[in-house]
Amino acid sequence: MFDAAKVLSLAVCCTLVTSTLAISTTLQGPQAQISNPLNTMLYQRGAADLPMSDPRFVQTVTGVYPEQVHLGYASPDSMFVSWATGEAQISATVSPLDPTSVKTVVTYGSSPGSYSGNVTGYGLVYNQYYNIPAKNNTPAALNYTSGIQHHAKITGLTPNTTYFYRCGDPTIPAWSDEYNFTTSPAVGPNSFPMTLGVIADLGMTSNSTSTWEHLVANQPPSVILIGDYTYANNYITNGTGASSYSTTFPGITSQSYQPRWDGFQRWLQPYLQSHAFLGIEGNHEQEPNINGVQFQSYLARYQAPGVESGSNTTLYYSFDMGPAHVVMLGSYVDYGKNSSQYQWLVNDLAKFNRANTPWLIAMWHPPVYNSYVSHYKDESLIQHILHACLALCLERYSSICEKLCI
Ligand SMILES: *[C@@H]1O[C@H](CO)[C@@H](O)[C@H](O)[C@H]1NC(C)=O
Ligand SMILES: *[C@@H]1O[C@H](CO)[C@@H](O)[C@H](O)[C@H]1NC(C)=O
Ligand SMILES: *[C@@H]1O[C@H](CO)[C@@H](O)[C@H](O)[C@H]1NC(C)=O
Ligand SMILES: *[C@@H]1O[C@H](CO)[C@@H](O)[C@H](O)[C@H]1NC(C)=O
Ligand SMILES: *[C@@H]1O[C@H](CO)[C@@H](O)[C@H](O)[C@H]1NC(C)=O
Ligand SMILES: *[C@@H]1O[C@H](CO)[C@@H](O)[C@H](O)[C@H]1NC(C)=O
Ligand SMILES: *[C@@H]1O[C@H](CO)[C@@H](O)[C@H](O)[C@H]1NC(C)=O
Ligand SMILES: *[C@@H]1O[C@H](CO)[C@@H](O)[C@H](O)[C@H]1NC(C)=O
Repeated sequence: MFDAAKVLSLAVCCTLVTSTLAISTTLQGPQAQISNPLNTMLYQRGAADLPMSDPRFVQTVTGVYPEQVHLGYASPDSMFVSWATGEAQISATVSPLDPTSVKTVVTYGSSPGSYSGNVTGYGLVYNQYYNIPAKNNTPAALNYTSGIQHHAKITGLTPNTTYFYRCGDPTIPAWSDEYNFTTSPAVGPNSFPMTLGVIADLGMTSNSTSTWEHLVANQPPSVILIGDYTYANNYITNGTGASSYSTTFPGITSQSYQPRWDGFQRWLQPYLQSHAFLGIEGNHEQEPNINGVQFQSYLARYQAPGVESGSNTTLYYSFDMGPAHVVMLGSYVDYGKNSSQYQWLVNDLAKFNRANTPWLIAMWHPPVYNSYVSHYKDESLIQHILHACLALCLERYSSICEKLCI
């Protein structure tokens, strides 16, 4: 189920490595782009969004009870568990919830109804504030404050083993239903088969719900979403959306309708409550708001092994799964030679051990080669980082570079 476009990217990457002599050094890069001309015949309008009244997006539990439950992959012996409680608010003035007012506990065990272990995590609340006055028949932007986003990490698990868990606040008590998951097999060169569900540009349309159903029908043990989750930034804050923002809302700076994120997580819960999810941000996760801060929803709602892989951020990170080392790159955060991402990637690749993980897989949101109207020439971002990285690799670690050629 690898996305064909991404596989093509990997193939392109290989070609680069095998013709190593053609690669210039970081001092010379980045090079001029070589792209096909823009092909306007390929332009298609996006699919129409489903409304928030779609039963898959509607809130079914309220108050202190957990909803939007989803797992995140950390390693074969650990698992991230995330969920939400409380009511989000969207209006001119909002009162953020106290994120400690509902506790964050997961109890778990290896048989149903019997929970030998428990872990305590933390809660957080994020806000999307705007200061955009009414203009051109578009109303003043409203403010959003989220429900409590709960995050915990279970550690010390046995690989390739089924566990049963519930999450919530034991003091109220307010627990979720019981769910289960199976940990990944131990990492190693013979850890086959490995199945990974890979999807991108998901959104919340009749077409993407059908794509998701196809993915679920294949029952991949874990799912990767390579950017563009909800498209909540195609909306203004009163919940009105537009396929062409600048035409529908002339002169209005970027806004978003954050309740779509809540709907998105409700829709995916039936699968992600029992299968680990991993994602990386795309351009639709930027969602700039009043403070110039970006990625607030993405960062607040999902866990990923950023600390575990030494990047200390979920905007770019890596992990080992089965026979693969998987690198998730952030195309919309600094990737230049002096950036934290660049330094982290160099260190991460230097630690890559093909004897343990013969596969090296890299993922990022924009396509590398593309003549389509969306993301046309976006690939310069990643060409830069790949180019620099491979060149540096060749200079310093020529033996590792050979291993880089998948
Ligand atoms: C939203 O909150 C910001 C920051 O407090 C404030 O400047 C802005 O006026 C608020 N928006 C509305 C519509 O009240
Ligand atoms: C969590 O584990 C501790 C130590 O075993 C135990 O005392 C406590 O009752 C457990 N809490 C829950 C909610 O299961
Ligand atoms: C939101 O604003 C748009 C643009 O002014 C308007 O057409 C729409 O009716 C408004 N929707 C609501 C629910 O107020
Ligand atoms: C695990 O949960 C899924 C639903 O998420 C259910 O279909 C399955 O039967 C459960 N597995 C076990 C072993 O209980
Ligand atoms: C995982 O466990 C199942 C039995 O539950 C076994 O059939 C399978 O071979 C194991 N996979 C690995 C990679 O160890
Ligand atoms: C997308 O969904 C619409 C509405 O259900 C449908 O008419 C259209 O055929 C779908 N497109 C594809 C490519 O499946
Ligand atoms: C990540 O955090 C750890 C612990 O706080 C720190 O030692 C390390 O230097 C940080 N790494 C980066 C790349 O910031
Ligand atoms: C990177 O940092 C060095 C040392 O501070 C500086 O000389 C150089 O101009 C910087 N390069 C870029 C591309 O910012």
